Amino acid sequence: MPARTPDRTDGRTPAPGAATAPDPAPAQDPARAAAEEHFEATLAREQRIEPRDWMPDGYRRTLVRQIAQHAHSEIIGMQPEGAWITRAPSLRRKAVLLAKVQDEAGHGLYLYSAAETLGADRQDLTERLVDGRQKYSSIFNYPTLSFADVGVIGWLVDGAAICNQVPLCRSSYGPYARAMVRVCKEESFHQRQGYELLMTMMRGTQAQREMVQDAVDRWWWPSLMMFGPPDADSPNTAQSMAWRIKRHTNDELRQRFVDMTVPQAEKLGVTLPDPELRWNEERGHHDFGTPDWDELKRVISGGGPCNAERVERRRAAHEDGAWVREAAAAHAAKQAERSRRAGKEQAA
Ligand SMILES: [Fe+2]
Ligand SMILES: [Fe+2]
Repeated sequence: MPARTPDRTDGRTPAPGAATAPDPAPAQDPARAAAEEHFEATLAREQRIEPRDWMPDGYRRTLVRQIAQHAHSEIIGMQPEGAWITRAPSLRRKAVLLAKVQDEAGHGLYLYSAAETLGADRQDLTERLVDGRQKYSSIFNYPTLSFADVGVIGWLVDGAAICNQVPLCRSSYGPYARAMVRVCKEESFHQRQGYELLMTMMRGTQAQREMVQDAVDRWWWPSLMMFGPPDADSPNTAQSMAWRIKRHTNDELRQRFVDMTVPQAEKLGVTLPDPELRWNEERGHHDFGTPDWDELKRVISGGGPCNAERVERRRAAHEDGAWVREAAAAHAAKQAERSRRAGKEQAA
């Protein structure tokens, strides 16, 4: 029997985006002590924490921040590729791209729902995104200059997302882990459609091959930055790993991505733009150069090439959609009133 929240006032009102602070010293209250013990034992047994379970405030805050950032990334991530839907070169490519962008909207919705199980409010999260209080992945602040970018995003960006997200299927928070299972299945199709598009272009004309190489040159380093800052500069990683929210460090995942991608690049016939990239027999991994961490900081803090445009577009879409939300709420209220009346009539 899972421990219930002994004190409903603690942690029920999360502060999304708040810094992760250690929880205050455990209270002497025996119910609270039992709940904490249950929490720790659940993690130790590799079982899931569910919304009904007691959890430390810091655990809840960290999850809300991470899940919200993840949801925002899915939704903002629709924009760079969405810009190519009307310019896709064939009906088949258009249908594939349309389906992929719709999948990303679905991922955002699962994730906002997961955040809601922690007490977060979706409207509030959206407001935090559009007024800059919450972040999203730095990668979506780069422009998509040619149709080859659609392929490279599928291959590298969705590929990096898979490396990040597969371990999250074993994350300790149940609703997040379960959402990730479906998300990862769809991401693997995204990666394959990107790779297949690039393979087709590489078999085409010299101009097409050059487009692919140019896109790879522009997206390679930002893709490596998707794993976040180096471990030495990632203060929240240790706590997230202790809580089993995160399963691997940023640098471990980055290495995994490089090792996975190098043979794919060779097969494709493109050059990854890193003169330091080479196989290290001793380590059993590829060595690679250092991403420009100043660029990552700049892009995360709003100074990337498309930050303002992406957020403005999201704000406009949110405002344009207000009437849909109002209509849906009015419809739901009407339905509820109807079933309330029907219930009364039956009872009479
Ligand atoms: Fe996605
Ligand atoms: Fe995707």
